[in-house]
Amino acid sequence: MKDSLLTILRDKNTSKVNFRHAAQQLAMILASEAALKVKQQKKTVETIHSKAVGHELFQKVCLIAILRSGMTLLPAFLYYFEDAYIGILGIRRDENTFKPNLYYENLPLIDKDTLLIILDPMIATGGTLCLAIDKSLQKGAKESNIIIHSILSAPQGIKQIQQHYKDVTINTVAVDEKLNDKKYIVPGLGDYGDRFFGT
Ligand code: URA
Repeated sequence: MKDSLLTILRDKNTSKVNFRHAAQQLAMILASEAALKVKQQKKTVETIHSKAVGHELFQKVCLIAILRSGMTLLPAFLYYFEDAYIGILGIRRDENTFKPNLYYENLPLIDKDTLLIILDPMIATGGTLCLAIDKSLQKGAKESNIIIHSILSAPQGIKQIQQHYKDVTINTVAVDEKLNDKKYIVPGLGDYGDRFFGT
């Protein structure tokens, strides 16, 4: 199902409404995958008949959304992680150098045991995410507890992140062929934010 939703996103004839719908459905799938990673501990409950040994979640979760596209994934992740801490990073790529520029930062303090989920649907050069990981580590996160959730990636971006942060996990629906000279993913889906927000 993930690939059929991605194909809707890729299609340049997909309307704004259908793009949003497919993106939100994909976000729900990604969020459910993230939910499987949260640590649990044993818990015994009384059933009507006896006792049952089960589990309860015990790991804190922090969601970091990268403006603006990361915001589109947030509702789905909040559905699963309703008491998550939320951090916001505003990072814009310089149009000429393609270097990431941090223009807004509002992160909670992060415990080293917290599962830190960074939300950014598109991994192009990887620069934005490297900066986001850096900021998260400065706030106390542990590299091996960081998971990036994205929809589409370029090989360069994945390589860049893995070279610098080998313990960070990347969950992406697909890795495309390459980046073009404007650093857009090819074949890609165009500008995710523009298509989702209708700008
Ligand atoms: N961001 C996008 O929205 N699209 C790309 O192809 C690359 C980065």
